[in-house]
Amino acid sequence: MDQVRRELGDCRRCKLCTGRKNIVFGSGNPRADLVFVGEGPGENEDIQGVPFVGAAGDLLTKMIGAMGFTRNDVYIANVVKCRPPGNRNPEPDEIAACEPFLRSQLLAIQPKVIVALGKFAAQTLLRDTTPITRMRGQWREYEGIQLMPTFHPAYLLRNSAEKRKAWEDLQQVMKLFGKHPGS
Ligand code: URA
Repeated sequence: MDQVRRELGDCRRCKLCTGRKNIVFGSGNPRADLVFVGEGPGENEDIQGVPFVGAAGDLLTKMIGAMGFTRNDVYIANVVKCRPPGNRNPEPDEIAACEPFLRSQLLAIQPKVIVALGKFAAQTLLRDTTPITRMRGQWREYEGIQLMPTFHPAYLLRNSAEKRKAWEDLQQVMKLFGKHPGS
């Protein structure tokens, strides 16, 4: 993982480098069995250089806890490592520039399971344009690693009625780890 970070360097491979404060490389256990992949840094993440530390991050931290893990047990990364201006969606050229590094991270970690949070993570990793509403909850594979697509926590903050579906998806992941809700 250190080598991947060195290769990334002070990245200037796409235009997001011009507005960023920090590269948000990823955080957690580089030997994790479970990896979460989000979309890209927001304002708080850009300031701190750490993924998922804002409101969506608080919910993700709760989701990880409810699954019986801590943030230190898992690894958290994003499709793009620099904040898109005004939190706009990452653009295809930005995703294309950044994806090789995410891929190297995932191959270095070799987790048992990847949870793809939201459309950008699921569609990028799987090269599948199916809407997340249809992809979620179905086991997929990424380079021989089991991948579960589910809703992004920021979406869940806006649509709390969907939390139940995301929890069903995460319970499938827990089952694979032999974990049970509430234990
Ligand atoms: N949303 C994301 O997709 N990633 C973060 O790191 C924070 C918010």
